[in-house]
Amino acid sequence: MQTLYSRPLTLRGLELKNRIFMAPMCQYSARDGMPGAWHLRHYVERAIGGVALVVIEATAVSPEGRISPADLGLWSDEHRDAFAPLVAAIHEAGAKVAVQLAHAGRKASTAVPWLGKGLVPEADGGWEVIGPSAARFDDSYPMPREMGPGDIERVELAFAAAARRAVEAGFDAVELHAAHGYLVHQFLSPLSNRRADGYGGSLEGRSRLLREIAPAVRGVLPDSMPLLARVSATDWIEGGWDVEECSATLNAVKAAGVDFVDVSSGGLSPAAKMPVGPGYQVGLASRVRAATGLPTGAVGLLTTPEQIEQALVTGSADAVSLGRLLLRDPYWPARQLPAEARTPPAQYLRAFA
Ligand SMILES: Cc1cc2nc3c(=O)[nH]c(=O)nc-3n(C[C@H](O)[C@H](O)[C@H](O)COP(=O)(O)O)c2cc1C
Repeated sequence: MQTLYSRPLTLRGLELKNRIFMAPMCQYSARDGMPGAWHLRHYVERAIGGVALVVIEATAVSPEGRISPADLGLWSDEHRDAFAPLVAAIHEAGAKVAVQLAHAGRKASTAVPWLGKGLVPEADGGWEVIGPSAARFDDSYPMPREMGPGDIERVELAFAAAARRAVEAGFDAVELHAAHGYLVHQFLSPLSNRRADGYGGSLEGRSRLLREIAPAVRGVLPDSMPLLARVSATDWIEGGWDVEECSATLNAVKAAGVDFVDVSSGGLSPAAKMPVGPGYQVGLASRVRAATGLPTGAVGLLTTPEQIEQALVTGSADAVSLGRLLLRDPYWPARQLPAEARTPPAQYLRAFA
C-alpha cells in the first residue's frame, strides 16, 4: 500500500527518507554532559531501525541548563568533539540527526528520575537555578533566581554557541526546546513569567527570549540546514499559554528562519489537566499547522501505522515523532515501512528483503 509516512520530506536542504522521526528522550546517562557508550548504542540502534531523523535528547547549552547532573551538553568544544563520532555512526546507520538544544531554567538541578525526585542540592552535585521569575515548579523543586539582563544575554549566546558546535560536529539540523516547561516555555507562559521588564507581561514581552534565540541560532547555521522548534502548544491550564498565543509566536519566529515545529504540550505546571490518550496531541498539531503554515510534527501516543497515516493524510501534520514505542521496539519503523521504502544497512539486507 502507498503510505504517506513512507514518503520523503525535504526541510530546506535536508532530505529525509520518510516521515517518521525519533522523538528526543533524555537518557540521563551523561558524565559532565558528554555522550558515551550508552548514547552510541541507543541512538545507532534506532537509526538502524529505520527512522528518517533521530532527534538527540535535550542537550544543555550551559551546565546550569541541565535538568539533571546526568544530562547531555554542548557547552564546550570538547563536547562537540565527543558528539562527532556519535553523529557519524548515526549517519552510517542510514538516518539524519538533529540535536535538541535546551535550557531547563527552573526545572534544572533535579534528580535523575530513577534515583529520586525534585531538587538535587549543591552538596550532591546540584547548582543554583535561574528562571524568568522567582516562582518554582512545585514544592520539591528548587526556587529559581530571577534572571537579570546579563543572564538572558548569556543564555542567548549559549544557544548560538551550542548551535555552532552542532554544525561543526556534523549534525543535520538543530531543534530549539521551547516545550515542556523548560526555560523558553517558562518565559512564554504567563503562569511562570511574572516579569515587569521587556521580557515579560504582554505576549510580545514573554515571547522575546524565543524571538531573540531563533535568529541568533539561525545566524550560525548554514542556509541549507533546517532549524526545528519543539513547543508545548498549551499549558492545559485555564489562563495559561495556549494554541492561539503559540501560533502567533511561531508566526513571528517563522521569519527568523524556523522551518519546522514539533507540537507537544504541557510540562509547565503539575496543575495541568492533560487529556492523555491515543494521538492526544494531533489536534494541537493540526491547529498550529493551519494557523502558521509551518511544516509540522505530531507526537504523543502514536503507536499504530493507521494512526500515523491518519495524522498525515488528514493534513494535521507533515511528520510524526515516536517516543516510547521506539524504546520498546527500535525496529518498528523498519517493519512497518513498505518494502520499497525500507533502507536497512547493507549488513542487514537479508533480514528486510
Ligand atoms: C524517557 C523520556 C525522555 C524524554 N525526554 C524528552 C526530551 O529530552 N525532550 C523532549 O522534548 N521531550 C522528551 N520526552 C517526551 C517525548 O519526546 C515525547 O514527546 C513523549 O514521550 C510522547 O510521545 P510518545 O507517546 O511517542 O512516547 C521524553 C519522554 C520520555 C518517555
